[in-house]
Amino acid sequence: VTAEKGGYDHFMLKEIHEQPKAYRDTMLGRIDASGKKVVLPELKLTDEQIKNITNIHIVACGTAYHAGLVGGSVIEQLVRIPVTFDVASEYRYRSPLITPQTLVIVVSQSGETADTLAALREAHDNGAHVIAITNVVGSSIARDADDVIATLAGPEIAVASTKAYSSQLIAFYLFALHMAQVRGTQTEAEVAHIIAAMQALPEQVEKMLENTDSIKTYAEEISKHDHLFFIGRGMDYAVVQEGSLKLKEISYIHSEAYAAGELKHGTLALIEEGIPVIALLTQEHVLEKTVSNIKEVKARGGAVMAITYDEHVPNLLKSVDQALAIPKTLPILSAALSVVPLQMLAYYASLARGLDVDKPRNLAKSVTVE
Ligand code: G6P
Repeated sequence: VTAEKGGYDHFMLKEIHEQPKAYRDTMLGRIDASGKKVVLPELKLTDEQIKNITNIHIVACGTAYHAGLVGGSVIEQLVRIPVTFDVASEYRYRSPLITPQTLVIVVSQSGETADTLAALREAHDNGAHVIAITNVVGSSIARDADDVIATLAGPEIAVASTKAYSSQLIAFYLFALHMAQVRGTQTEAEVAHIIAAMQALPEQVEKMLENTDSIKTYAEEISKHDHLFFIGRGMDYAVVQEGSLKLKEISYIHSEAYAAGELKHGTLALIEEGIPVIALLTQEHVLEKTVSNIKEVKARGGAVMAITYDEHVPNLLKSVDQALAIPKTLPILSAALSVVPLQMLAYYASLARGLDVDKPRNLAKSVTVE
């Protein structure tokens, strides 16, 4: 078993470190030699169909749902098609408005999640084309879907999903760019610019993983708490939802992820002296707004840790207790980097509490019951 972990103490840690490779493998062969164009030859979905799509539903569970939240907003921004999001266990029961022009994207690491499979069938019953983003090409979901965009993350063993989530992001980026090319919503230069930034991601993750001492120290600190909060806006909000889930799953620390601006509409009542609040700030256009929300938290005694780009650290340190810098990328790609310290935080918090990192209580890797 030790051998399978490749020298790492846990599968989760190994899988976190496999993310650069998972990114490269998922991009491999899907960017043409010029570096200016995405090619997804595996798609049966025609250009004609892509031009006729009126709306997109993204449906998934757990971590895959969180990847969908990021992926869907990337699609909205690059392609300007309305996207809605559902957790799979809710989808069928709200009678979603599905037409043959609706594209349904289901996301599933295992491809076996019963709720997601049932959602896929609901979409098919209503005539929609279904694309599955999955890590297991021989899975039930891959078989039933009209199209599969495979993530090439390799087998994921730890119950807490890491490299599957981040490779799902890469799959979404590629598909969003493909649609943008077909519908002409981004110029060739814009697409090339995004592709270049994507190709830099693996090395940026490697760099982040070289030194995780400060996250470890911070994780040890928060492991003594029973409640904490994550805040962020836009895509940062989507990423902190994943960070919060990761922490709950393996450290059993209760946490809530909040849209930074929504905190003041109720939840701020829970902020008291010393409560840890982790703020993610990578979306420049709302950075100042989040800083205002941080000040509201600080005024109530919250202990704020900011995760942001280097260049913002000096200024932010005036408003927060501590800050962690991450490498800079385009706002639409930031999730592929910012999720890494959140994964490490959950990992080290679980370790500090002496818990079974790879096999948390009550949870299964793949849930085949509804
Ligand atoms: C289970 C796992 C989660 C996972 C979810 C969806 O609940 O514990 O980590 O995110 O299923 O799994 P899937 O294989 O469909 O991505």
